[in-house]
Amino acid sequence: MYILGATAVSQDGLCFPGHPRAMSEKDLPSLEERAKIVKSQGALAINQIHHPGAFALKQYSRMDPLAPSAERANEILKQLNQFNNPVKEFTDERIKELINDFAKATELSIKAGFDGIELHAANKYLFQQFYSPSFNKRTDDWGGSDEKRMNFALKVVDACCEIREKCKRPDFIIGYRLTAEEELLLKSQFNIYTCHNYIISEKLEEVKELELKELKLYMMKFKEKLLLLVSEV
Ligand SMILES: Cc1cc2nc3c(=O)[nH]c(=O)nc-3n(C[C@H](O)[C@H](O)[C@H](O)COP(=O)(O)O)c2cc1C
Repeated sequence: MYILGATAVSQDGLCFPGHPRAMSEKDLPSLEERAKIVKSQGALAINQIHHPGAFALKQYSRMDPLAPSAERANEILKQLNQFNNPVKEFTDERIKELINDFAKATELSIKAGFDGIELHAANKYLFQQFYSPSFNKRTDDWGGSDEKRMNFALKVVDACCEIREKCKRPDFIIGYRLTAEEELLLKSQFNIYTCHNYIISEKLEEVKELELKELKLYMMKFKEKLLLLVSEV
């Protein structure tokens, strides 16, 4: 299995030079080429789909970065010495569109011949900005409690699964890259190079040892949800 690098699902999520995209039909030729290169070497091709939230860069997106909580995101970016343009807050409407953007990227990946997608929910990007109590200070449907901070991720997973069903591709893999770096975020000592990523089924015991209530709850939820998906396949 070969998981390709972070691929943008929307214009407001561009943050790398030459950032690969899965945003519209126009992106199909390049997606097809990437899938073909991997598959021609005998590996399963997995497209990692991604949105950086506050870490989007205006020089690529041509717009101000967006995050679940603007004020907190600006503080964190300044702490990290990564503040470029003031971050604005996602509206409820844009959050709902974003869920569709992930669904659309999943559909494009299926059309392009990938064997699966992976949601990039590690390395402080958008998913983490939603589930992190340090990043997410919202008080609407998308924040304010453990359950609500998970809402975004769970809705995206559901939307991707619906696409898989619509395309009649029960074999299509839907992965989720978790992170256990939350401890660092809570202490506001963020350092992406010290993060560790856990495969839910195998490393849950290690997460338990960290005694991070928030993270444990989140991972348990996902384990439950993803095991359900696996048993459905
Ligand atoms: C230049 C660079 C690019 C990266 N690109 C991705 C990526 O596209 N997708 C991803 O999941 N992680 C990406 N990462 C994160 C790494 O996969 C990994 O989480 C990080 O380097 C920490 O792990 P390590 O301690 O084993 O290096 C990238 C890291 C670096 C340094």
